[in-house]
Amino acid sequence: PYEAKIKALLGRMTVEEKLGQLQQMSWTGDTGPGGGQTDQAEKAARTGRLGSVLNIYGAKSTNELQRLAVEESRLGIPLLFGLDVIHGFWTTFPIPLAQASSFDPAVTEQDAEVSAAEARSNGVRWTFSPMMDVTHEPRWGRIAEGSGEDPYLAAAFAAAKTRGYQGDGTHLDSDTRLAACAKHFVAYGGAEGGRDYNTVDTSEAHLRNHYLPPFKAALDAGVATVMASFNTVSGVPAHGNRHTLTDILKDEWGFDGFVVSDYTGVQELIVHGFAADGADAGRLALNAGVDMEMVSTNLADHGRQLLRSGRITARRLDDAVSRILRLKFRLGLFDNPYADEDAAVTEPTKQTRAAARATAARSMVLLKNDKDALPLRPGIGSIAVVGPFADSNDLQGTWSGPGAGKFPAVTLLAGVKAAAPQAKVTSVAGVNADGTDTSGIKDAVAAAQAADLTVVVVGEPPAMSGEASARSDITLPGAQEDLVTAIAATGKPFVVVLVNGRPLTIGSWLDAAPAVLEAWHPGMEAGNAIADVLFGAVNPGGKLPVSFPRTVGQIPIHYNHENTGRPYDANNKYTSKYLDLPDGPQFPFGHGLSYTTFTISDPILSTRRVSAGALRKGDTVEVAVTVRNTGERAGDEVVQLYLHDPVASIVQPVRRLRGFRRVSLAPGKSTTVRFRLGAEDLGFWTHDTGGRFELETGDIDIYVGNSSTATARTTLTIG
Ligand code: IFM
Repeated sequence: PYEAKIKALLGRMTVEEKLGQLQQMSWTGDTGPGGGQTDQAEKAARTGRLGSVLNIYGAKSTNELQRLAVEESRLGIPLLFGLDVIHGFWTTFPIPLAQASSFDPAVTEQDAEVSAAEARSNGVRWTFSPMMDVTHEPRWGRIAEGSGEDPYLAAAFAAAKTRGYQGDGTHLDSDTRLAACAKHFVAYGGAEGGRDYNTVDTSEAHLRNHYLPPFKAALDAGVATVMASFNTVSGVPAHGNRHTLTDILKDEWGFDGFVVSDYTGVQELIVHGFAADGADAGRLALNAGVDMEMVSTNLADHGRQLLRSGRITARRLDDAVSRILRLKFRLGLFDNPYADEDAAVTEPTKQTRAAARATAARSMVLLKNDKDALPLRPGIGSIAVVGPFADSNDLQGTWSGPGAGKFPAVTLLAGVKAAAPQAKVTSVAGVNADGTDTSGIKDAVAAAQAADLTVVVVGEPPAMSGEASARSDITLPGAQEDLVTAIAATGKPFVVVLVNGRPLTIGSWLDAAPAVLEAWHPGMEAGNAIADVLFGAVNPGGKLPVSFPRTVGQIPIHYNHENTGRPYDANNKYTSKYLDLPDGPQFPFGHGLSYTTFTISDPILSTRRVSAGALRKGDTVEVAVTVRNTGERAGDEVVQLYLHDPVASIVQPVRRLRGFRRVSLAPGKSTTVRFRLGAEDLGFWTHDTGGRFELETGDIDIYVGNSSTATARTTLTIG
């Protein structure tokens, strides 16, 4: 509906004004290197040389800057304000990796809806989220921002989060919606060694089977923009990668939104050794498919000269500008460029806090629970809460929004006191968060000895995960393990709560710990949500979206690996294994316990044989299982369906998730879960250049259960 308006506007724009639309500047410099560009941005806004500003929020501040563009620039084209609203604006939800542990995409949709309304009322129109980088690298700090190691799970969460921000996309001009951004395109999660920004080498088939599915799902959900990634993809930097940005994203998938670079990502083409200078970087990025340049100014600086020399075309420039203007029209910016300063949301509400608390609890994973150590019994006389995070509010997680600074997280100490008002509750840190100061361990031991029960809360401070926060050692930092061991040595009852932004290698203390609850970084309601689970007000139902390695030397270790010709065999030396480790991870993908027990029946197929041709017409095969709560409490189980194609033209993962459903059941109750599998589930991309999706004939094993180690199996034959 906006094409005529876009054309008319393009007709009136000078080359500089067009290049200006491609420029984004950072108001403050706090999400990348270098300082803020405040003065530059004001000047560029006035002269119509600026399309967008990031790292700015607040109805008043955005309005002031918007006024310069709308009232002072020649054409009055409004600015687009973007911000990293990743897991909350005022109301901070658990980190995205935690949300994925819920195996319930409604969790992330709710976060995005709340965040969109809060941010939008504060002048923000565009969020750089969802992040959907599938990764097999727990050392990589940005694992906290995504949905873990599986493309199918990541796709479901990417689509849900996009819907949460944008609704169905038809009313982006509503005052509760944001434009979303699928990032980082593409294969950023493959960073070598988990070192951020690092090299990625991938086959076309792996690119399409592993890294691209979440992006396709986000596009199908209508995502408005895409952000290029900092890494190379098989030798070609993602910002200069025509194959991924144009051939696949824009041509094959028909994406009509725009691609924004990452922070100085265009400039970095020079440092990569791919572009000779700034002009070359601008040329390569624009011609590859980048439409807007974040922070660096190569297109604005050299665009006219590039056009004159024919190194970029007027057609491509107009295409990029049209894509940006199209979103500005869709967002209603031309009609309504300002935020309503009287309507700005200034704090979380009771309801949004309750949502943050419920989603945090829903995202927790009970890793271990010997002899029903959890939930804690009501009426307990005295509790010691020990550890560096016992009385800490540094629990909101990486990439928290402005709310994290203004509305501190509820501490676990406060949560425990509220949940057990009758108990005498004491608290000792024992060690500091980076584990370097151990002087408090003896006090922590004394507190444990004096209490009926100790809750030890250990983990990583949020600054240890997120961007530029890779760790080579993913154990508990410093001497935190010594604290757990010292508490275990008291012989008194204790449970362990982990707060962290990535999988940890848990180490020898695991054997001594009766129960371990993975709480991740739970957001602003952290202490209350953890207490809800510890005391059984919430029965945990989360599952791991990522494998927990036994040691760092085992990485990469992930459930969806391929078989070697010599798969692990304990009794055969000449098989794929480590001499010094048992097979498999410490905790597998999909693992998570409950305070109740469930049984899941063998899977039943609607048909045992189907022709590939029939499935191509959109038919599906049904797989049904019955899940029953066999315990004494109401609880949630996540029924998971995995496929394995044992003979294929390219070797297939030993398991790949193709269905999951979280169900709530009262004690003794059962329900039937039905999964529908179509060609898109059963087939895969082959190794051909350019990629070809194939549903090959032969058997496909289907496993259903409550983790990636499920053994209940049936077989479907594709005829
Ligand atoms: O959106 C982020 C991106 O994920 C990493 N670099 C900075 C961008 C903007 O803040």
